Amino acid sequence: MKNVSVIGAGTMGNGIAHVFAMNGYKVDLIDISESALEKGMTTIEKNLGRMLSKEYITQDDLVNTINNIKTNTNLSEGVQEADLVIEAATENEQLKLTIFKTIDKAAPSSSIIASNTSSISITKIATATARPEKVIGMHFFNPVPVMKLVEVIRGYDTSDETTQTIMKLSEEIGKIPVEVNDYPGFIANRLLMPMIIEAITTLVQGVAGVREIDNVMKLGMAHPMGPLQLADFIGLDVCLNICKVLQEGMGDNRYAPPPLLVNMVTAGKLGRKSGEGFYNHGSKELIVSKSFK
Ligand code: CAA
Repeated sequence: MKNVSVIGAGTMGNGIAHVFAMNGYKVDLIDISESALEKGMTTIEKNLGRMLSKEYITQDDLVNTINNIKTNTNLSEGVQEADLVIEAATENEQLKLTIFKTIDKAAPSSSIIASNTSSISITKIATATARPEKVIGMHFFNPVPVMKLVEVIRGYDTSDETTQTIMKLSEEIGKIPVEVNDYPGFIANRLLMPMIIEAITTLVQGVAGVREIDNVMKLGMAHPMGPLQLADFIGLDVCLNICKVLQEGMGDNRYAPPPLLVNMVTAGKLGRKSGEGFYNHGSKELIVSKSFK
């Protein structure tokens, strides 16, 4: 494999493009607008600059990585030469089905099509294509250049060959893949969301405040971020969507999103990306949002 097309230049997409380009792959980074692509490239340059300043990479590595990435606003054009396409668009099932249909028509018939979805069924996404055996999940974690894990999700029809190719490729780009069968929330979010739901319920019940709940998990369980800070980092809208997929897919109300989470998303408090969630994210220091003081 040489050519990788990444769809979506947002947080996950630009991180995935960064990692492949840094490992010598030619990357086509695709998004609907020039401004989204410019923003994605600026983030990649900033994160490479951070790696350069820590001497993890050289100036040549930085330049080569940037040169390995081409941007494109045309989806069909951007996947024409792809050996692998990784879709990292917004978490919306209808949108993903439409994108997969377009990729299936435009990409070479030999290419593998992966989705970075955090919870939408790979089996369902594969139905939009005529090559379900070549459709697979590659679930990366934020920040992609730092986090080692890739959940490799096998849909109902994903072939052994496709799975082995993607497991091997994940290792080649310095990640540690874990093979998972297609079931709601896979492993990561099936385990993570109940913790976030329980942290929110603990807050609502007045057991302790935002910082105290997070400190218990940070200091007592050695998590790099507490569950409420992590929910802000992931995006409260993303957490809400994953909870709904889990609740519906498992038919189990243990995964029901807490009303506080629904209200915060309705009010536009989406966490880090909107500037406010359980914390205020305006400054370097983590300050608990005034709603929870
Ligand atoms: N690109 C490159 N390097 C980065 C980076 C990026 N975007 N972000 C951070 N880093 C590097 C820093 O340079 C630093 O490197 P050194 O340790 O070598 O100095 C290191 O990562 C740590 O960063 P910081 O010192 O700035 O900050 P930190 O120690 O607070 O760590 C963090 C930041 C890595 C994000 C850490 O807080 C962490 O691991 N948090 C948990 C992240 C997590 O759980 N992610 C998964 C979310 S779930 C998901 O993505 C999927 C889903 O389906 C919901």
